[in-house]
Amino acid sequence: MAVHPLSPSGAPQAAPTAEAVASLIRAAAGIQPRAPGTPGWIDRKAAQVAALLAHAALTLGDAPRGRPLVVVDAACGHGYAGLAFAALLAPGLGLRTRVLGIERDTDRAAEARARARRAGVPDVEFVAADLACAPFPDEPDVVLGLHACGPAADALLAASVAARARRVLLVSCCHRKGAVALDRSGLPGGGLLGDRARQVVTDALRALRLEAAGYRVEPVELMPVHGTARNLLLRARATGGERRAAAAAAQLRRLEALFLPPGD
Ligand SMILES: C[S@@+](CC[C@H](N)C(=O)[O-])C[C@H]1O[C@@H](n2cnc3c(N)ncnc32)[C@H](O)[C@@H]1O
Repeated sequence: MAVHPLSPSGAPQAAPTAEAVASLIRAAAGIQPRAPGTPGWIDRKAAQVAALLAHAALTLGDAPRGRPLVVVDAACGHGYAGLAFAALLAPGLGLRTRVLGIERDTDRAAEARARARRAGVPDVEFVAADLACAPFPDEPDVVLGLHACGPAADALLAASVAARARRVLLVSCCHRKGAVALDRSGLPGGGLLGDRARQVVTDALRALRLEAAGYRVEPVELMPVHGTARNLLLRARATGGERRAAAAAAQLRRLEALFLPPGD
């Protein structure tokens, strides 16, 4: 299977192409392959999912082969990342997998189940639950969070750390005003610069929270050519390095003192 040109360099050949993911999404959504007027969102979503899975593949060289890989697709929406992991990436890598999608919106979770059935993807389950209190499996091998919005990203990280997830791939979106306070830092709070500053600070806090919990975090671009404005991926692996964790915890305290709104 060819690697899509948007994939990160070094991704294994088994990572699915955006075209393969788009075919899967069409099958799941019940759209004929060559239907006229096929919506553009399918190609955009397929490119994002293919890029995310190529990053996931980069972390899976030492994945266990004697049992199914446990994968959580958190804030999964219609579940395309989880579906593509189960139907395309895992078989391409010669891995078995069990995917659990977690989605707060009951209708969307039901639709994800229907789409999995329509596409004929086994070994995936979708539950309607809030990540803040969702049933996370113990020590999942991979947690995927594609465009987990606002507080969902923080809930995903907290749940992943509590469950001792081995790998976490998080692309945040919707960095809300008020979630970090820029006034004490001297950074501009308004306009585009304020938006960018909030994004950087929020992603830095999230990366440090993971590092402080014993993960090695690589902040990388999801796609080298942007198919989405939300393009920063935190690609993290549990390593348990204590010295790195202690340094990250100290840096996190400094950033929290500077950027968390008073009272948080
Ligand atoms: C921007 S969509 C992304 C969906 C999917 N990951 C994708 O890339 O297509 C974010 C999804 O997260 C869900 N969500 C938001 N907050 C959540 C929470 N606290 N727990 C579970 N799901 C949540 C929303 O209902 C929405 O379906």
